[in-house]
Amino acid sequence: MRAQGGRARRRYDPDPMAGLSPSDLAPGLLLGEGVEIGEGVLIGGHAIIHSGVKIGAGARVGDHAQIRDGARIGAGSTVGSYVSVDPGVVIGERVSIQTRCYITGGTRVEDDVFVGPGVTLTNDNTMDRHGPEFEFEGPLLRRACRVGGGSTICPGIEVGEEAFVAAGAVVSADVPARALVMGVPARVVREVPDSDLLQRWR
Ligand SMILES: CC(C)(COP(=O)(O)OP(=O)(O)OC[C@H]1O[C@@H](n2cnc3c(N)ncnc32)[C@H](O)[C@@H]1OP(=O)(O)O)[C@@H](O)C(=O)NCCC(=O)NCCS
Repeated sequence: MRAQGGRARRRYDPDPMAGLSPSDLAPGLLLGEGVEIGEGVLIGGHAIIHSGVKIGAGARVGDHAQIRDGARIGAGSTVGSYVSVDPGVVIGERVSIQTRCYITGGTRVEDDVFVGPGVTLTNDNTMDRHGPEFEFEGPLLRRACRVGGGSTICPGIEVGEEAFVAAGAVVSADVPARALVMGVPARVVREVPDSDLLQRWR
């Protein structure tokens, strides 16, 4: 297992609600200071977007989504309803993150990634038994990979380009590019066929 995604130091903001103000862009929406919202972005009700977040043109943020400080959402991406995005997470362009996912600190999501509903990304193998210098290791989701609903990706794991994680998998080792992995723990079962590659669908 390698640290691939990114490292995050700070875990808890002393006051995560500080600096949030109501906005008339959507009912119940709270916006932090210095949030940048691109052209044509759609934001659902009761979302909370913390300070310093940047959202690229044409992106969508679902109802009740929470995007923490300094996170980046690329142009044309979707952050679904009830999704939680941790501080400093970087999400590329045309990414789809479906309902109720947790995108943990230190995660990097490259362009054209698909994350199915209820996916959990994790960043701390000690589960909080560590000193103050501990660096959280988020996963790295490479370009155009697909992560099936309800799966869990362990800290520091890389999911390769165009890889496919089957629904419900627990991914505890890096996934090679174009591999289809399945199960608990996830094992490679076959290669993603040419007919499934993103270039055939764009
Ligand atoms: C991987 C997937 C596409 C099924 O692949 P498949 O090759 O058609 O699977 P099959 O139905 O032919 O099953 C092949 C074997 O794998 C097993 N299997 C299928 N899906 C599985 C999964 N997700 N986890 C564990 N085992 C699985 C089957 O039970 C079967 O086992 P058997 O040979 O012992 O009977 C499907 O399980 C999946 O993960 N889809 C993603 C859905 C999703 O999350 N979409 C997100 C947007 S809604």
